[in-house]
Amino acid sequence: MYENTDALAVVRALRPDEPITLLRPHAATRAARFFVEKFQGKSLYAVKANPSPALLELLWNAGITHFDVASLGEVRLVNKFLPDAKLCFMHPVKSERAIAQAYHNHGVRTFSLDSHDELEKIVRATNGATDLELCVRIRVSSEHAKLSLASKFGADPSEVADLLVATRQVADALGICFHVGSQAMTPAAFSEAMEHVRAAIVQASVTVDIVDVGGGFPSVYPGMEPPPLESYFDVIHDAFEDLPISYSAELWCEPGRALCAEYASLLVRVEKRRGSELYINDGAYGSLFDAAHVGWRFPVQLQRSDTSIGTQMAEFSFYGPTCDDMDHMAGPFVLPDDIQAGDYIEVGMLGAYGCAMRTEFNGFGETETVVVEDEPMATLYSRSAANDVGLTNRQARASKK
Ligand SMILES: Cc1ncc(COP(=O)(O)O)c(C=O)c1O
Repeated sequence: MYENTDALAVVRALRPDEPITLLRPHAATRAARFFVEKFQGKSLYAVKANPSPALLELLWNAGITHFDVASLGEVRLVNKFLPDAKLCFMHPVKSERAIAQAYHNHGVRTFSLDSHDELEKIVRATNGATDLELCVRIRVSSEHAKLSLASKFGADPSEVADLLVATRQVADALGICFHVGSQAMTPAAFSEAMEHVRAAIVQASVTVDIVDVGGGFPSVYPGMEPPPLESYFDVIHDAFEDLPISYSAELWCEPGRALCAEYASLLVRVEKRRGSELYINDGAYGSLFDAAHVGWRFPVQLQRSDTSIGTQMAEFSFYGPTCDDMDHMAGPFVLPDDIQAGDYIEVGMLGAYGCAMRTEFNGFGETETVVVEDEPMATLYSRSAANDVGLTNRQARASKK
């Protein structure tokens, strides 16, 4: 792993043939400290967003002690690198073997579920354990989020009360959890979901020990500039305080994206230009899955020494390196109009659901990693005035030129 100051320094030093993942440990540390200090409860890192061991370690060092894991692979991974971390198995549909191994071999005591079948599975796999923390996942709307998580998981409101009562009977601690969908653009997503939590508690008349508001905390992308995270935290805390639960009940959240989006960006090379289409050396099967499959617009910046001041900007789409027509990212990505083969582009905000999605399809997928010291292309955590619109000083300076 090399260390360098910023993307342009990496281009100058290496002129890399393969895409390079640029890591900003300081940005992930800053995000973790923010959650640890400002969220008035426990912040669990959702490992699926980026399972890199280096990131896990730096989040741990910044004060994140609980991890939301969704598979046995993630259980083993976190257990290996952070043996003292508390693991919460928050996938509501697990194999019995995965539950048994997590419980008996890895010390996992916290599981989520959204059906009676899953509850029975957990009881069987743990041999009727009496030290379980069980969180019932309820279905809530994803209407305020950019990526829906409303269809697949979550008990229906008509089943929730029964399931809470049944779970209460076997759980040492009973929780309610939900997910408002990823990249929730307004705190109202959480206040509305908390109304469903209230209704469920009232209907079931059970004592609830944990309220877990899940993930969904946003990051900043072109055309997606959310309000400050503090406003989400305030809404959640106020709603939590209002719930009919005991004083000792705990508030949890499970951020993925918000903790690691700023951690990584990607340096790619333009291999060919065809009009407004740029053929680049990473794509749908690499770190740009979301750009291809859900049309996510990541920020981009040309990394060229003699940046063409005064050159017109233009809109481009990207093709990735594989032979597949679907390896296409519509964007639009706004870049200087004189961009050509051999130029390098930095694609920002790929720390969450970017690096984690890489495959080696078609023989591509090789990437080196370089630690850089500059700011990410956008941040929700900087105290600068530019932060009001979600821009870093770097972008603010660029946009003044
Ligand atoms: C159960 C659970 N918790 C947390 C997360 C993290 O969500 P986000 O990255 O939107 O914060 C996810 C994402 O799919 C999830 O399924």
